[in-house]
Amino acid sequence: MTPRRILVTSALPYANGPIHLGHLVEYLQTDIWVRFQKLRGNQCIYVCADDTHGTAIMISAKKAGVKEEEFIAKMSEEHQRDFAGFGIEFDNYGSTHSEENRVLCHEVWAALLEAGLIKEKDVTQLFDPVAGTFLADRFVKGTCPNCKSPNQYGDNCDKCNATYSPTDLIDPVSALSGATPELRTATHLFVELEQLREFLIEWTQSGEHLQPEVANYLKGHFLSNPLRDWDISRPGPYFGFEIPGYPDHYWYVWFDAPIGYMASTQQWCDRHGEEFDTWWRDPETEIHHFIGKDITYFHTLFWPGMLKSAGFNLPTKVHIHGFLTVAGEKMSKSKGTFIKAETYLKHLDPAYLRYYYASKLGPRLDDLDLNFEEFQNKVNADLVGKVINIASRCAKLVHKTGLSATYPEDGGLFAAGAKLGEEIAAAYENCDFAKATRLIMELADAANLYVDTQTPWKLAKDPDQAQQLQDVCTVTLNLFRQIVVYLAPVLPRLAQRTRELLHAPLASWNESQTPQAGTPVAEFKHLMKRIDPKDILAMIDDSKEPEAKALEAGDKTATAAAHHPADSAEPLLAEPLAPECSIDDFAKVDLRVARVLAAVEVPDARKLLKLTLSLGGEETRTVFAGIKAAYQPERLVGRLVIMVANLAPRQMKFGLSEGMVTAAGAGGTEVFLLSPDEGARPGHRVH
Ligand code: 2FM
Ligand code: ZN
Repeated sequence: MTPRRILVTSALPYANGPIHLGHLVEYLQTDIWVRFQKLRGNQCIYVCADDTHGTAIMISAKKAGVKEEEFIAKMSEEHQRDFAGFGIEFDNYGSTHSEENRVLCHEVWAALLEAGLIKEKDVTQLFDPVAGTFLADRFVKGTCPNCKSPNQYGDNCDKCNATYSPTDLIDPVSALSGATPELRTATHLFVELEQLREFLIEWTQSGEHLQPEVANYLKGHFLSNPLRDWDISRPGPYFGFEIPGYPDHYWYVWFDAPIGYMASTQQWCDRHGEEFDTWWRDPETEIHHFIGKDITYFHTLFWPGMLKSAGFNLPTKVHIHGFLTVAGEKMSKSKGTFIKAETYLKHLDPAYLRYYYASKLGPRLDDLDLNFEEFQNKVNADLVGKVINIASRCAKLVHKTGLSATYPEDGGLFAAGAKLGEEIAAAYENCDFAKATRLIMELADAANLYVDTQTPWKLAKDPDQAQQLQDVCTVTLNLFRQIVVYLAPVLPRLAQRTRELLHAPLASWNESQTPQAGTPVAEFKHLMKRIDPKDILAMIDDSKEPEAKALEAGDKTATAAAHHPADSAEPLLAEPLAPECSIDDFAKVDLRVARVLAAVEVPDARKLLKLTLSLGGEETRTVFAGIKAAYQPERLVGRLVIMVANLAPRQMKFGLSEGMVTAAGAGGTEVFLLSPDEGARPGHRVH
């Protein structure tokens, strides 16, 4: 097959804050996909850059007392250090504040003008007379016009969720200086997107470039109405590029940010003697953008519109992922779940997070939850317990002899693993890393079973079995090598260590297809250690805001400053275990799969929902469950739950409760009902 030429990008991180575990979902997803493409022999480059323009960065630099250029240079250095720490390898890392970007912005701008897409309009906005700047929505605060809550941002109220314009706020103040803003009018430049509507419908709805739910969302929310003009300029002062012909007017950060993808490619081309047009104008080249769902709009409407108008290649695919939650919630500084990349790296091996995220990332837009117990279990059980275990049980035993001269009979194990390679590759290609890792773990199970049955440690005690020992270890280490090839996009350092151990190139996916024989085996050095839960706790502790820590230590003076005093007491790792019980005790509990037929609120009961559950056939039960704070009743209808079916009925104030549904979590809003995998039916017993 001829190699594909593929350009890959991740969203450009803003240069006004550190990289954290939320960002890393995307950069790890992209890095894994890129490494996979390279391993398959495709020509693939991964470019990124810092997103450096806009008001927020201007203000941060001012606060830090440095010029913007100095501020963004330091940020870029920190970002690149953190990415490298996680093994994220860019072919070029640029900046939107680069000469290459300025030149390309001019080129795109000229094309938009030429196409008759730009128009001028006057915009009246709040202006801070003290700071001498117009105020973006997030820089105005005031009382919500809807629910009258004080201290709300200019675009929406976090108490009642109303959206409004900053001029609607009651008693607005500038978040920059505290001054009362005044209304001022300035000219802005707009792109008339509506002119591109036909093209955008065709491009978004073709079924090739976007995940189906994204295409539907765009159709339902934007493309079924006239498209609004897009405001792409800001009056000065503004940190950005000045627009030619419009003194003291600057391109809005979202205009020049995606052009930064091209500017970064330009830098790569200049360093490698390649033509820019090969990557951005040759239709043979594939362009893949990886982004989070919050910036869908920019990448699926504005950006293709700009590219189309300026005659560049359109994205082959925009891969969109969901957000990260930690322990089921938004990251929180007081709970220590707002974890910076730098803090993580002080305590834990990056390979753990690479593997954990990979094991949870699918092709859809679902949010991904980082659950520390699951994190610890997956890494320790899958990675160390299964994968590393294969090598550690055999490598030492053949260090002196090396692998057998010819690959021995293995009952078809290696061939079966080779055959699975295409399915694993298809999963990677489709960004279904969860499936890829699941398939790979099945191979690890098979390899471990082989070692268990062949008992090389016993063979090693009998000098007459030397050949048999060498053969068994040769098979085992080849199965290990095959698994490491498949895992190499996720775990490049493990691949590197295995390369040294087995003198294997591990540079191409094809190496998974043929066994290796007659090669030396280096001295076995540790490949990866188990996670120590103490390290996770130390990382969480290190991530807490100082006031939350002080509070835990009993420092009363911090109480007023901590946002959620009660939060920090919640355990993020395993809760203490219940006392031991015998199998017989456990068997007394009749756990059954049940379907929720109806769910209604119980008037007067603060916490309860009344559930009608089907146990299959005619049998139904009424159960009162304390899950009102966590579930809206209509969301429950139709889902499967696990119920305790032989609990003695209990007469409650509201009626008879005939069982109990099972759930995890601390209670209140943190309740997670248990449900079985697909295929289970109401009435099935849980063993
Ligand atoms: O949302 C963000 O973090 C932006 N800085 C992403 C920009 S992506 C691209 F268009 F440059
Ligand atoms: Zn409100």
